[in-house]
Amino acid sequence: MPAVGGFDKGTGKAYPGNLTPYVTLTCVVAAMGGLIFGYDIGISGGVTSMAPFLRKFFPSVYRKEALDKFTNQYCKFDSETLTLFTSSLYLAALLSSLVASTVTRKFGRKLSILFGGLLFCSGAIVNGAAKAVWMLIVGRILLGFGIGFANQSVPLYLSEMAPYKYRGALNIGFQLSITIGILVANILNYFFAQIKGGWGWRLSLGGAGVPALIITVGSLVLPDTPNSMIERGQHEGVKTKLRRIRGVHDVEEEFNDLVVASEASKLVEHPWRNLLQRKYRPHLTMAILIPFFQQLTGINVIMFYGPVFFNTIGFADDASLMFAVITGGVNFLATIVSIYSVDKWGRRFLFLEGGTQMLICQIIVATCIGVKFRVDGEPGALPKWYAIVVVLFICIYVLGFAWSWGPLGWLVPSEIFPLEIRSAAQSVNISVNMFFTFIIAQIFLNMLCHMKFGLFLFFAFFVVVMSFFIYFFLPETKGIPIEEMAEVWKSHWFWSRYVNDGSRHPN
Ligand code: BGC
Repeated sequence: MPAVGGFDKGTGKAYPGNLTPYVTLTCVVAAMGGLIFGYDIGISGGVTSMAPFLRKFFPSVYRKEALDKFTNQYCKFDSETLTLFTSSLYLAALLSSLVASTVTRKFGRKLSILFGGLLFCSGAIVNGAAKAVWMLIVGRILLGFGIGFANQSVPLYLSEMAPYKYRGALNIGFQLSITIGILVANILNYFFAQIKGGWGWRLSLGGAGVPALIITVGSLVLPDTPNSMIERGQHEGVKTKLRRIRGVHDVEEEFNDLVVASEASKLVEHPWRNLLQRKYRPHLTMAILIPFFQQLTGINVIMFYGPVFFNTIGFADDASLMFAVITGGVNFLATIVSIYSVDKWGRRFLFLEGGTQMLICQIIVATCIGVKFRVDGEPGALPKWYAIVVVLFICIYVLGFAWSWGPLGWLVPSEIFPLEIRSAAQSVNISVNMFFTFIIAQIFLNMLCHMKFGLFLFFAFFVVVMSFFIYFFLPETKGIPIEEMAEVWKSHWFWSRYVNDGSRHPN
């Protein structure tokens, strides 16, 4: 298990350190990791609504979508191969994150980032040059492998390089860069779709190569983290490196603590088995339920299939891509609100407010679509204002997600796991997230076809469940040092029966 050292162990210590050029550079690399992830989320929905792309790779969907205006609108995009194109990436990411955690621990974060970059580059090339569906899917799988490596190593790299006091902000910074990636993808899709000759989708897919190249080159020039070097027994030169990274001479205390943390974490032989102990029940529950609920908000219906969905409710191709740009912009701006407010108003407030907002919007959107499309899916002439009202409420829904479950779905798990189970619990968190991202991506179009407007009520139901869960089971973690977190469970009405004084594990 990696030693994620360098933090205050509840002793009131604060290691000296500045935001040096070294650390700034690591932020740029981390931003590239998030950008690529976001770019992939945003790009697939756009290209799958581009007529030339559909005509080339998914002719049956194209015929249903473009030529037959009279079939049930809910079902016109329903195709297993089309969804496989989107979802294959997340299955690959899930599998590779399991391998990546070993590579990251044994060979260092740098090598893992390099693997991520190389896999991304090859995926982007195969996709940009695709001549058949299998090439599209192989490309997506390569991108997915890249994401598994990058999502495991980049946040870890960041949290080890960042000076203690900037860690929280950098954490949501990663989510912010995901939203920038989605927005950039939406904007590029909008413009590339207008290229005469209909080959703009190649640029959209191949475009992932640009940030991928930056991350590859970045991984070659960046230093490995001191934590990772100590963990692999390379104590030599670590102090000199720490001095350069932190920009101060006095690194003795941090160095010693890193060594102690590394030794302690090596004593933990079975982090996975550890996770099953009774005292870690709240942590395991959160590691599974938070990412599960995050995906069950239904956000990726909008992120992956927004343009397809807007198309379904009657917008032309370019207007659909434009609305994806708008929802992408809203997603990005609301994440900034979250960065600003998360340490002021707390996690619980944002979770509950965001949940209520999403619920109201989902009910309104379901009603609007249900009234017009009914169950037969034939809307007749749809007035523009009607579709605009739907888009407006979708935007308010995205706002709600982007300042609550979006960033908090990553932040809260990362701050509640004690060191001895941190890497195992983080792997569970990522795997559950990728698994349900895959499921939603794979079955959404089919669910839309069968559940029709009721699909929005299905997600609304889960939003109610998750809000109750937060209200009753998630204690507030705002302003609590990571190593003091045990206290929060001990004083909780429910979790105190699992976590008690005898169960506090010294790191
Ligand atoms: C989620 C993604 C989602 C994105 C939207 C992330 O936190 O994990 O699945 O697409 O937010 O901004």
